[in-house]
Parts: sequence; structure tokens; C-alpha cells
Amino acid sequence: MMPTKVRLNVNGTVREIDAAPDTPLLYVLRNDLGLNGPKYGCGLGECGTCTVLIDGIAARSCVIPIEGCVGRDIVTLEGLGSREHPDAVQQAFITEQAAQCGYCLNGMIMTTKALLNINPNPSEAEIAQALQYNLCRCGAHIEIMRAALRAAGQIAEVGD
Ligand code: FES
Ligand code: FES
Repeated sequence: MMPTKVRLNVNGTVREIDAAPDTPLLYVLRNDLGLNGPKYGCGLGECGTCTVLIDGIAARSCVIPIEGCVGRDIVTLEGLGSREHPDAVQQAFITEQAAQCGYCLNGMIMTTKALLNINPNPSEAEIAQALQYNLCRCGAHIEIMRAALRAAGQIAEVGD
């Protein structure tokens, strides 16, 4: 498709870009808008590292064309909080030091955020179910689960 002007609502601000309507949202976020929180992993919708929130729901931005995002509310990792003022989920992952290489963290944090949007008190099983298709090649799943439990206010229930 030919490039055209597309207006997207990203992190509360309307941004206008020139891009083909079938361009994956991830490319526009990273290359046009400089939002590098979402990462390119598989490019096939399978690993979760490109996850953003669209209307509050976790979405894999590598397989979503921007034409499907017009008029929707897009939030990236940068839209949750800043280095100085991380949001509760970001802070929980920092507190638990829940990373090795960190490449999967965007997806883990955004998916946890989406879960808490619809279920503020998830069980460990519900968190595991929500995160099960977010891949972590480093094997940091135990720390990631602790961070998600902490974000959900349940860390005391697992012995800490
Ligand atoms: S890069 Fe999007 S799911 Fe893997
Ligand atoms: S911490 Fe490296 S992929 Fe998860």
C-alpha cells in the first residue's frame, strides 16, 4: 500500500505519521515515534515482546496494521510511567529484579497491566495463564511471577 497520513492516539497524544496503512503498529511506534519499549522478537505474534495496550487490552503490535488502530487508545510501556515515576507494575518488576537480559520485560509488564485492568486481584493461576504465551528465553519466569504477584498486591501470600 502507498503511504498516507494516519493519525494515531498514542500515550494520550494524537500523532500523525506518513505510512502505508498495512504497516505493523510496532514499526511505527519504534521507527516513527521513537517508542522503543515494545520490542521486535518473532514478528509473528508468538512471543509477546511487542505487546502494547489497545483500548486497555494486551495486543501484539507486530501483527496489527496501523489502519486497525485508528481511533483506538494505544498505550506503550512509556505511557505507563517514567524512570522517575514508574507505575505500580513497573515498580514491582524493579523491586523483584525480574529480568536477566530484559528483552521480554515489555511484554511481561504490559500483559500484567492488561490483566490487572480486568482483574485487579488475580490468583497465581490466573497470572500464569495470562503470561503463558509471553516467552522468556532466559528462564526468569520465577522472578517474573513474583513481580506480577507483587503488582497484584499478593506477594505476602507467597511467603514474602
Ligand atoms: S514480536 Fe510480536 S509477538 Fe513476537
Ligand atoms: S529476561 Fe531475557 S528473555 Fe526474559
